[in-house]
Amino acid sequence: MKSFVFYNPTKIVFGKDKTKSIGNYLHGKKCLLLYGKESIKKNGIYNSVVESLNKNGVMFVEKYGVKSNPILSFVHEAIELARKEKVDAVLAVGGGSVIDTAKAIACGFYYQGDVWDYFTDKAKIGDALPLYVVLTLAATASEMNNGAVITNEKTQQKFNIGAESLYPKISILDPVNTFTVPKTYTAYGCVDAMVHLLEGYFTQDEIDTSIQDGFVETMVKTLIESTGKIMNKADDFNARADFMWAATLALNGLTTAGTGNHGFPNHMIGHSLSALYDIPHGASLSIVFPAWLMYHAKEKSQNISQKIPKFGKAIFGVEDPQKTIESLKQFFNSIGAPTRLSQVDIPAADLDQIAGNAVMLANKWGLTEYTKGVITDILGLGT
Ligand code: NZQ
Ligand code: ZN
Repeated sequence: MKSFVFYNPTKIVFGKDKTKSIGNYLHGKKCLLLYGKESIKKNGIYNSVVESLNKNGVMFVEKYGVKSNPILSFVHEAIELARKEKVDAVLAVGGGSVIDTAKAIACGFYYQGDVWDYFTDKAKIGDALPLYVVLTLAATASEMNNGAVITNEKTQQKFNIGAESLYPKISILDPVNTFTVPKTYTAYGCVDAMVHLLEGYFTQDEIDTSIQDGFVETMVKTLIESTGKIMNKADDFNARADFMWAATLALNGLTTAGTGNHGFPNHMIGHSLSALYDIPHGASLSIVFPAWLMYHAKEKSQNISQKIPKFGKAIFGVEDPQKTIESLKQFFNSIGAPTRLSQVDIPAADLDQIAGNAVMLANKWGLTEYTKGVITDILGLGT
């Protein structure tokens, strides 16, 4: 086990009907109520939140319309509104896109320059408005981590930020709020949470990590099983609860504590697919991840290829690398997640452009072994 510091200050309030308690936590504040397009109005979450805010005398101004794969121009508009209205908190009601937008607003609020400077490492994040969350879609774990990903639509860069001041103060996780998540986004959320777990599992430089491997393997199995149940019954409370908690734990720092250095190469490539073609994050990963595993399975000396049989045995009951990758692809396809670029209408002729975009993030993240050529070869296995 490698040395580590594990710190996570987000208070999780988990369970049925907990949405009604959000106003208690915001007592005395004036908040920016941020949400997406229409889902929370249709499923009643908006009414529950507003009722709770009113009951507790919480003042709020609304900003809505965050799109999936959220964009910088929206963040700029929201920062202006937050300053004009002199809010002192941000309340995000939604999935990863809304929470990430809220984080960018929270830190941009105090910064005199362009908030994009934080994403390009031109400036360091300091203070941020306190952030509160009512989660409506389980996938990203943004509700319990300090990261955010925004697309600069002018430069076609999907880049991230991270800072201690960006951990949400409170996140309400009510599995009932996810009953209306459609099958497509349930599948993408499952893939996203699985790949969060597996990026660390396969790329970590410490080999002897039985606790962490056990966490990951259990959570991957839980995600597979609960997704199957949800696909048959959207309002299966226990399945939605298992799924939700697994997705949160998948990227809150727990599973990688003690594993040493690890990277996010699949996210690096996936973000370029979303930056260039606006495809859902989970769909980008279900295409990239099996191709990435296939690419590394050939390199027998690497930790990645050596760990594939352990993963295959634990999850699918097979040890052969090819069979393991095939089983994973079959699972992704069975829940409606694509495993080939052609399934999302991205032509093989675009590989060079995609790899060129991904290299920008490879440089930012120090993943310099992922040259344009390597990325093209990986994507070539997923055409
Ligand atoms: O806009 P509305 O109408 O609300 O619809 C949303 C949206 O279309 C819908 N939805 C959300 N809750 C629902 C619901 N529909 C019905 N019932 C509900 N209860 O779902 C659609 C997708 O929402 P979105 O927030 O985009 O999904 P997700 O949570 O997967 O977030 C994806 C974004 O998070 C980033 C991704 O890159 C992507 O931009 N990520 C953030 C991370 C982080 N901060 O730690 C890590 C991840 O790796 C990821 O990069
Ligand atoms: Zn992800």
